[in-house]
Amino acid sequence: MSHQIRPATEADLEFIMALEKLSFGRDSWSKPTMRAELLAPHTFYLVAYLDEKIVGYAGLSKVKSASSADIQTIAVDESLRRRGIGHELMEKLIAQAIQLGASELYLEVREDKTAPQKLYESLGFVVIDRREKYYQPDGVAALVMRLALSVQGLQEPVVLGIETSCDETGIGIVRGTTLLANVISSSMDQHARFGGVVPEIAARAHLEALEATLQKALHDAGLSINEIDAVAVTNGPGLAGALMVGVGAAKALAVAIDKPIYAVNHLVAHVAVDVLERGRLETPTVALLVSGGHTSLLLVRDLLNDVELLGETIDDAAGEAFDKIARVLGLSYPGGPEIDRVSKEGDPKAVRFPRGLTLPKDQDKHRYNFSFSGLKTAVARHVELAESKGEKVFVPDIAASFREAVVDVLVTKAINACLDNNVPRLILGGGVVANARLREVAAARCQEAGIELRIPAFSLCTDNGAMIASLAAQKIMAGEAPSELGFGVYSTLAI
Ligand code: KG4
Ligand code: ZN
Repeated sequence: MSHQIRPATEADLEFIMALEKLSFGRDSWSKPTMRAELLAPHTFYLVAYLDEKIVGYAGLSKVKSASSADIQTIAVDESLRRRGIGHELMEKLIAQAIQLGASELYLEVREDKTAPQKLYESLGFVVIDRREKYYQPDGVAALVMRLALSVQGLQEPVVLGIETSCDETGIGIVRGTTLLANVISSSMDQHARFGGVVPEIAARAHLEALEATLQKALHDAGLSINEIDAVAVTNGPGLAGALMVGVGAAKALAVAIDKPIYAVNHLVAHVAVDVLERGRLETPTVALLVSGGHTSLLLVRDLLNDVELLGETIDDAAGEAFDKIARVLGLSYPGGPEIDRVSKEGDPKAVRFPRGLTLPKDQDKHRYNFSFSGLKTAVARHVELAESKGEKVFVPDIAASFREAVVDVLVTKAINACLDNNVPRLILGGGVVANARLREVAAARCQEAGIELRIPAFSLCTDNGAMIASLAAQKIMAGEAPSELGFGVYSTLAI
C-alpha cells in the first residue's frame, strides 16, 4: 500500500509526539507546544499515514499580514524514508503557502543533516544564511533556506500591467478581478499635426511617460512596488518600437523586484477587461475591437484557452478611417470625436457610401473581415467632384453618411458573427466605441436580435494597462506559468 496525506487534527497528537521523540530526541517539542502548534489559526499541519499509522508530519506557519511563510517542522518515520513521503509533504505545504498568499517560504535545517538539505534543494530552496551555534546543547549551526514562491494559483494576485502598443502609455494595477489603478498618459497631442500616430514619436513618448505613470498607478493603488505579485505587459499586436519600450521596462521591473512576468496579447486583453466590472467573463462571447490601430472580430469560447480571430481589417483600422476622413473634411485630429460632433447636424442618408466587403461575393472569404479603403476613396472622390463642379459640400452630411457606412458594416458583421456561431453576447472595445452612432445602432440591433450587448466603461475601452493586468491575473488564478524572460515583441501577434 502507498501512503496518503491529509490535514492533521488534534486526535493525531499522540502519534505525532511519538514520531517527534523518535526523530528529534532531546530537541523534541513538548506535547503542549505541539498541541498549540496544531491548533493555532496561523498554522497548517499535514500528516502522512500508511495502514492507518501516522508515518510523517509537517507544518508551516503563515501570519495573515505577512508575505512570507515558514516551515515549522517535518519528520518522516526512519524506516520509511526515501519513499518520497517527505517530498510530498513539502510539496503540499508549498502549495498551501501559495494558497495563503505567501511569496516566500523559509526554513531552518541543521548544518550536519545533509539528507533534508538535499530534499529542500530539490524543491528549489536555496541557502541564504547560516546561524552559528543555533542548535543547543551540541552547538550545531542552522542553515536558513528560502524558496521564492511562484504566483501560479494565487487567488487574488496583485498584478501590474503595462500597455504601450500604440500611443497610450497605460499602467494598471488589479487585485484578482478588482481594479486598483488605471493611469493613462497619451501622446495623442504630439501626433495631431501629422494626422495619425507616428511610431517613433509614440515610442519616445512611452519612454518619457513610463516612470511617472508607474508612480501614479502605485500611488492610486496605495501600494509599494514590492507588494506587486507579478508584472504583465503587452507584447503584441501593435507598433514594434512602442511595444519594445513597454516590454523592456516590464522585464527590468520584474527582475528588479524578483517577480514573475506575463506577456499578454493586446486584443484578448480588451476582452479580459470585462471581468473588472462583472467578476467573470460570460462565455461564449463575440468581441468587436475597434480603435486607431485595430479592427478585429473575436469569438471567445474561453478567455484563456479558446479565443478565435474571426476576422480583421485588410487595410485601415476603423479609427484610422475616421482620422483620415476627418482630414479630408478639414476637421482636426483625432477624427472620430470631430466626425461625431459635426454628424449631429448632418443627414446620414444624404450620400449612400459603399459598405466594404459586404457584397454576396465577399461572404466566402471576407464575411468577418473589414475594409475601409474603398469607403475612404469614395468620400474623397465625392468631395473632389463636388468642388470641381463648384458645388459647396455640406460637411455634416458627408460626415454623417460616412459614419453611417462605417457603423453599419461594424455592427452588421459583429451581429452576423453572433448569429452564425449561436453566441448571445457581444462585447465592444477600443477607442471607436466612443462613437455615439455606433453605440446607438449596436444597442438597437442587438436588442432586435436578442443579443446582450456589453460596453465596458470608456476608460477601460481605450487602450489601458488595467486590461493587461486583468488578463494576466486570470492566467495566474488559473495556474498558468509565467513567460520566460526572453520573450519578444510581435507587431502582428497571433491569438
Ligand atoms: O483605442 P484608442 O484610444 O487607441 C488607439 O488606437 O490609439 O482609439 C483611438 C481611435 C482614434 O482613431 C480615434 O479617432 C477613434 O479611436 N475615436 C473615435 C471616436 N473617439 C475616438 N472614432 C469614432 N468616433 C468617436 N467618437
Ligand atoms: Zn487596443
